[in-house]
Order: sequence, then structure tokens, then C-alpha cells
Amino acid sequence: MSSANINVLALSGSVRQGSLNSASLRAAVELAPEGVRVTLGSIAGIPLYDEDVRSAGTPEPVTALAEAIAAADAVLIATPEYNYSIPGVLKNAIDWLSRLDPQPFARKPVAIMGASMGRLGTARAQYHLRQVFVFLDAMVMNKPEVMIAAAHTLVDDAGTLTDETTGRHIRSLLEALANHTRLLAPARARD
Ligand SMILES: Cc1cc2nc3c(=O)[nH]c(=O)nc-3n(C[C@H](O)[C@H](O)[C@H](O)COP(=O)(O)O)c2cc1C
Repeated sequence: MSSANINVLALSGSVRQGSLNSASLRAAVELAPEGVRVTLGSIAGIPLYDEDVRSAGTPEPVTALAEAIAAADAVLIATPEYNYSIPGVLKNAIDWLSRLDPQPFARKPVAIMGASMGRLGTARAQYHLRQVFVFLDAMVMNKPEVMIAAAHTLVDDAGTLTDETTGRHIRSLLEALANHTRLLAPARARD
């Protein structure tokens, strides 16, 4: 990692076309501050976790995602909230990645945000996701927290985030993630 450029891999916890979380990550691409480049990754195409499938060989979408995470300086995850928790499709992707050696989230700088139609903006799901990353030894940034409530009112028909306040919060999160990543770089270089 150069001191000037932080490469952030952005992963949405929703694979649907009109995803509000994917919309917030597309906004993050546009809002990235100088010295930060945000690239959209995907958890699409990952099969349901099955130890028998894994024994036969790690599926290609899992390997590709692990490589993308390994190549990134940091990861930004936008999670929906399903029934007060992490959507199964996101947890399933993380479960696959957690069985790899090397495990791609270990010591990786990570930031979490999320968009929901509810009033708490995925707060409950985000705290569950933080708990999962404890076991994976990811370096999850504490603050700022970006919880995008009533997100369907902040995105236009073309799937573009139009709310300036939310945009400022996302940009602040990216600035903080870049600082968090730079702070951890010397320790990670010694690993
Ligand atoms: C199975 C299911 C459970 C949901 N549970 C919650 C919930 O607990 N809290 C909430 O705020 N929204 C909940 N929602 C609504 C989501 O916030 C909404 O579908 C959101 O658009 C999902 O994110 P996405 O647009 O990125 O796909 C739920 C939606 C689904 C499909």
C-alpha cells in the first residue's frame, strides 16, 4: 500500500438489482476522497455453504472474492437488515470466506455501513456483523457509524443516492477508513 492511495473493496450484502445498499456503495465510488479508490465487488453467485461441496473444492466465486479482498487495502461492507440481523446471503458468503487459509478478513481493515427502509438504518444488523468479525480477527473501524434509515426515500428511480447529508456521512466514513488503514499499515506489514 502506498501512503497516497488506499484501495477499498466495496461489498453489498444484497444481490438484488434495486438494492439500496448497492446504491449507497455506488455513491461511495463517486464520493471517495482524494487518495481513496472504491471498487465494487460482489457476493453474487456464491452457493449455500456445504462442507461436502467445500471438500470437493472451493467454488470459484468464493476464491475470486477472497482474492479481491486480499488485493484490497480495506473492505467496506454495506449490509441490509433482515429480521433484525445480517441477511443470510451475506452471512453465507462470510462463512465460506472464513474457511479459507489464509482467511482473507484476518487483520484486514473493515468498515461497516448499511441502508434499510426502517427507522434504525440497519443498526441491529451492523452490531451482529461486528460480532462476526471479532471471530474473523478483522480490524473493524469503530466510528463513524453510517446507518441509513428510510433509505428508499433517499434514492431516485435510477438507483442514485440523492441525499446530500447521507453523501457527506459516506464520505466521512471513507476518510476515516483511509486513516484507519494507514494507522494499521505498519503493524500489518510486520505480520
Ligand atoms: C426478509 C426481510 C427481512 C427484513 N427485515 C428488516 C428489518 O429487520 N429491519 C429493517 O429495517 N428492514 C427490514 N427489511 C426491509 C429492508 O430494509 C429492505 O428490504 C431493504 O431494501 C433491503 O436492502 P436492499 O435494498 O439493499 O436489498 C426486511 C426485508 C426482508 C426481505
